[in-house]
Amino acid sequence: MYSKLLLAACLLIFASCQSGNQPEAVAAPDISTVPLIPKPVLVTPSQGGFQFNEKTAIYIDKASSGLESVSGYLAQKLFPATGYKLEVAPEQGNNQVSLALTSNSADLGDEGYDLEIKPTGIKISANKPAGIFNGIQTLLQLLPNEIWKSSKQDIPWVVGAGTIHDYPSYGYRGAMLDVARHFFSVDDVKRYIDLISSYKMNKLHLHLSDDQGWRIEIKAWPKLTTHGGSTQVGGGKGGFYTQDQYSDIVRYAMDRNVTIIPEIDMPGHTNAALASYDFLNCNNKTTELYTKTEVGFSTFCTRKDTVYKFIDDVVKELAAITPGPYIHLGGDESHVTAKKDFIYFLNKIQSIPKKYGKKMIGWEEVSQASLDSNTIVQYWSNVEHAKAAVKQGAKLIMSPASKAYLDMKYDSTTKLGLMWAGLIEVDSGYIWTLSSRAKEISNDNILGVEAPLWTETISTMNEIEYMVFPRLPGIAEIGWTPDNSRSWDEYKLRLAKHGARMRAMDIDFYESPKVPWGIK
Ligand code: ACM
Repeated sequence: MYSKLLLAACLLIFASCQSGNQPEAVAAPDISTVPLIPKPVLVTPSQGGFQFNEKTAIYIDKASSGLESVSGYLAQKLFPATGYKLEVAPEQGNNQVSLALTSNSADLGDEGYDLEIKPTGIKISANKPAGIFNGIQTLLQLLPNEIWKSSKQDIPWVVGAGTIHDYPSYGYRGAMLDVARHFFSVDDVKRYIDLISSYKMNKLHLHLSDDQGWRIEIKAWPKLTTHGGSTQVGGGKGGFYTQDQYSDIVRYAMDRNVTIIPEIDMPGHTNAALASYDFLNCNNKTTELYTKTEVGFSTFCTRKDTVYKFIDDVVKELAAITPGPYIHLGGDESHVTAKKDFIYFLNKIQSIPKKYGKKMIGWEEVSQASLDSNTIVQYWSNVEHAKAAVKQGAKLIMSPASKAYLDMKYDSTTKLGLMWAGLIEVDSGYIWTLSSRAKEISNDNILGVEAPLWTETISTMNEIEYMVFPRLPGIAEIGWTPDNSRSWDEYKLRLAKHGARMRAMDIDFYESPKVPWGIK
């Protein structure tokens, strides 16, 4: 009886019920007013809330396997700011965050989750660990912004009560980072993975080679990195990832539900390779390293068997260190490859990722060739290419440059970035849908969305963050939230309130005048 009364009190005004100390009244926020991005499918608030304390534990449902990694992730995320070390409890009880693969809700798919918050405890259930991970991201966003601080904060860690039933519209929600034009360290890539995964993005495409640099160790062809990786745009020292470093990135990403997609661009955008090995050129002469930014001047020699042997070696090594299902082989802007050579080349290389158990992704130009049933096409500029891909039955990744290229300037005063695809203010980057590019392209043809960041003008992590935020959360929402529950007028208020959270995450973001940052 006493505990029932206490529970009732907890439901009315939320109080510190589990600690056993004198209850200290703490207002629990209404979860339907917390600025969650991406916006969940269904949020149902109820009275009261749950307060974490030093005794809060994690409980992993006994019948659920494979949850150790997400459980460790949750404990690791909560520790720095709360100072609470959430242990895994042997038995179910109160004051726990309970994780369970027991959902029987078919609409949750592989990545959806149910989050239930009661004054006595929290439960996250899902069909797969990926869904639990996404539920954890929502829980983190429901906590006070200080949860992102790296030192202990003495505040009550309260989340409002209620339930959230949530799942993504699209399975492919990605970002691309160009580490070829400017090289970025393993730590920078890890921070990028942390940032994108906190918005439930699940793919990171690494653009690992271009005219200005080759960034991944290939043991059979060491000069690709020792020479081809030795510089970058502007003539700086460049760099590359050893295979061990790349594997470290892949593991880090996997623990955050992010699949790494490596790209080796070809037959154009290949000067760094052409400068490293003479046989890749038709005239058998190496080119000079290149540190400027024009595109479309380089090509592999498409009629030499040795070139295909080289590509096979590269894909074989990459496939061996890439557990995800995709290898991206570029194919864009090959302006000095004769069309018949380009088609011949595409027809030959599509079988190589397949031979090593991978699906090939190519930029939209590859749809000029006859596409293997295994090939996925990434739309970026010319909708006719996307339509041609769909006509051949290929699936699309949507990255329209005029909406999703995060290196485009926000307005004419933006110091970083380019503007060849237009200016993309934060509202424009949000106001579009993946299936409205052409009437021939419907949701059935679309895997999802990817927001590329090309780095001709970008050379530091702060610069990455400034160009990416706050547009990337909008792209994450386009991939996750149903189109009919998105509107700029509502989103801009959530984004404005989310500004404090980005500050707490130490994100150097663009304070767009389109967003009413001052609102409470
Ligand atoms: C591209 O922007 N060249 C894919």
